[in-house]
Amino acid sequence: MVDEARAAGTLGGKHLVLGVTGSIAAYKAVGVLRALREQGATVSVLMTRGATKFITPLTFEVLSGHRVVTDLFESPETMPHLTMAEGADAVLVAPATAHFLAKAALGLADDVLSTMLLNVRCPVIVAPAMDGEMWTHPTVTQHVDALRARGVVVLDPEVGPLASGRIAQGRFPAEGTILDAVHAALLPQRDWRGQRVLVSAGPTQEPLDPVRFLSNRSSGKMGYAIAEAVCARGGDVVLVTGPSALTPPSGVTTVHVNTASEMADALSRHFSSCTVLIMAAAVADFRPRVPASGKLKKQGKVAIEFALEATPDILAMLSARRTSQVVVGFAAETEQLLSHAKDKLRAKGLDLIVANDVTHAGGGFGSDDNAATILSATGEQRAFGLMPKRRLADEILNAVRDLCLVVPRGQSLVE
Ligand code: CTP
Repeated sequence: MVDEARAAGTLGGKHLVLGVTGSIAAYKAVGVLRALREQGATVSVLMTRGATKFITPLTFEVLSGHRVVTDLFESPETMPHLTMAEGADAVLVAPATAHFLAKAALGLADDVLSTMLLNVRCPVIVAPAMDGEMWTHPTVTQHVDALRARGVVVLDPEVGPLASGRIAQGRFPAEGTILDAVHAALLPQRDWRGQRVLVSAGPTQEPLDPVRFLSNRSSGKMGYAIAEAVCARGGDVVLVTGPSALTPPSGVTTVHVNTASEMADALSRHFSSCTVLIMAAAVADFRPRVPASGKLKKQGKVAIEFALEATPDILAMLSARRTSQVVVGFAAETEQLLSHAKDKLRAKGLDLIVANDVTHAGGGFGSDDNAATILSATGEQRAFGLMPKRRLADEILNAVRDLCLVVPRGQSLVE
């Protein structure tokens, strides 16, 4: 099926920027460029100075049909680091040297490729090639981890004979592997087809009286992003949402609730027919034991006391009731992120927990971005730096798919 997806025209309408850096594997980028063109993509090529030592810009110019840029300062009018970034659906850096990985990880911008990278927000795929000792050097590992945590797809180089004559991991990835990564980034993935996913989102509001309530700062953005991502990847979604200003994604069955108790009822109704529960809601932990039936009047009072009681722990309750469902929770923490998240994972009997530090600058409640660490009951851990919630939603789905769902043999991840 992936071969079918590689058929001519599949990448029609897509525009890629191909960055070529100074590795002996630079000549192999020619094959990648031809394959992308055969599949209908338009491709603009940027080369570093090192790359031009191995292969001439003219080769890429002829095969791409576009001018190749090698110099950030070629002319004051063109500003290639901006113009090349415009309209890019994806950036592919192939081959990528250890030097390039270091610059990209640190955000250095001293040539046209590294500077252009700071101007794009589209998917970035990197295909490293270098000697084995370099690939396994702790500094390179650190840079690769930093890029992956930022959502960059860094492919693993292959094991085999290298230019040095050694046999080790460092060979430029196979053309098919690179094309699969481009497809996964650019074509709709349908890997959640057949899954019925129950997603909770937003805060709950616990009435103090008919006009006032206890609540929290949750906007619902993370849960709505997850619902949208599941839909985009072919799954069915029931979204149970507390009060939120957001419009539910189209194609999603939405149930609106206000209180923790209404949320518990709605989720309970749909739980038995779902295959995965993702509990992104920020459920209020406490509610007034007896809300006032009429509006509370000031009447000269200077203080007022309310007796609060705990709301039901919906996630723990549903997890205890599960038959074959995969159950995913969130941990909103302000300190000791990982140890508190691990405690919740165990205590609530979850398959996965998404731990996020709600005090993180630029992330957390209300923000469009989030940073998180995903922990599994089987001990795996994936950390993600600050990224748009919609991208993090895809990473959460990837983790659930890889660690908890069994994908039937032969099922394609790409349609
Ligand atoms: N949760 C729930 N019902 C509650 C409270 C929380 O289902 N009454 C769920 C949340 O949706 C989240 C997970 O439990 O998926 C963890 O929520 P969090 O607020 O991080 O932790 P709590 O369990 O409420 O514990 P604490 O407030 O002490 O950190």
